[in-house]
Amino acid sequence: MTRVCVEDFEKDALRLLDKNALDYYRSGAGEQLTLNLNREAFKKIRIRPRCLRDVSNIDIRCNVMGIDLKWPLGISPTAMQKLAHSDGEGANALAAGNVGSIFILSTLSTMSIEEVASVAPNTNKWFQLYVYKDRSLTEKMVRRAEEASFKAIVLTIDAPIFGQRRSDIRNGFSLPSNLRLANFQSLQAAAGVQSDGEGTSGINVYVARQFDATLTWKDLAWLVKLTRLPIILKGVLTHEDAILAREVGCAGIIVSNHGGRQIDTVPASIEALPEIVKAVGNDLVVMLDGGIRDGNDIFKALALGAKVVFVGRPALWGLACGGQKGVEEVLNILKKDFEISLALAGCQKLSDISGDMVAHESTYAKL
Ligand SMILES: Cc1cc2nc3c(=O)[nH]c(=O)nc-3n(C[C@H](O)[C@H](O)[C@H](O)COP(=O)(O)O)c2cc1C
Repeated sequence: MTRVCVEDFEKDALRLLDKNALDYYRSGAGEQLTLNLNREAFKKIRIRPRCLRDVSNIDIRCNVMGIDLKWPLGISPTAMQKLAHSDGEGANALAAGNVGSIFILSTLSTMSIEEVASVAPNTNKWFQLYVYKDRSLTEKMVRRAEEASFKAIVLTIDAPIFGQRRSDIRNGFSLPSNLRLANFQSLQAAAGVQSDGEGTSGINVYVARQFDATLTWKDLAWLVKLTRLPIILKGVLTHEDAILAREVGCAGIIVSNHGGRQIDTVPASIEALPEIVKAVGNDLVVMLDGGIRDGNDIFKALALGAKVVFVGRPALWGLACGGQKGVEEVLNILKKDFEISLALAGCQKLSDISGDMVAHESTYAKL
């Protein structure tokens, strides 16, 4: 059957992926309250459409941090994409480029920085960084991203250790022996993700051994000074941290709860967005991921002040269903859907979207 929405790809991906990979991709942490909230919160926002406004010429192009994009959506960093398809991160990056999106490559990728750069040279790419206990290793990754023409460093700040994803613990999640974390190919200790046995997730074991959980805001000065690339912080959920991000010299932030995979019961990203936009929206590029599944979600996030949004799992579902082509289909569906949302809400271009075009459902319940 023709797939017409992200959900259709998800349903097919659920049949195609093995349990180890599927549970790793779809899970959230703890009771998965935040994972579910990321979707529920969007459903509680109503669009207030304006009518009789010429929408014959829809234009969704934008410029984000100096990069011209065909539309305001990119692909979030997700680890180990060869679990979904043998073409892995390269296919995802190529699809992003073909549909005019940004691709963010995870530190924990199954294709290296250099491989992705050579497969998808024309895609706008950012590199997502985790800070390793071995700072020289961390510094080398930043240099490699610079040399491979990545255009920003996205530092993920919500993962000093990994959240308790119960299915991965039950499954004893491990990266299959034919796959490696490709950015560390020559370093055996940093390239494999193996469970310690029953009742442990290999990725949690890996992160506890390798990531630097001592990281604080003071270390950010080191990172900002280290590279000529702009620094974007991913995982901001409060206006307090957004203000600190501005103080340390970051160029942007991604409001995110890691797709509900870190600390459970934190707000949905879309719930956290308004306080952050209010605090720093004039000074930093505020972006968002978490729960975006259709054009209306993109519209709502932009109305609440995000400049661009990102999707994680939808791209993985596309990858599982058909490699590069599958991701392109997902992105094209989202793009078309967003154009329709824009037109039906009475907007011709992104700057026509305003905060008063959305309202929380409670506004209407009071009537
Ligand atoms: C399977 C999977 C792996 C992920 N790996 C990373 C990662 O390596 N680095 C990171 O910063 N975020 C990672 N994330 C979080 C995503 O970047 C993003 O915040 C989240 O997927 C957005 O929510 P969505 O899946 O609802 O679109 C991962 C998410 C998933 C689902």
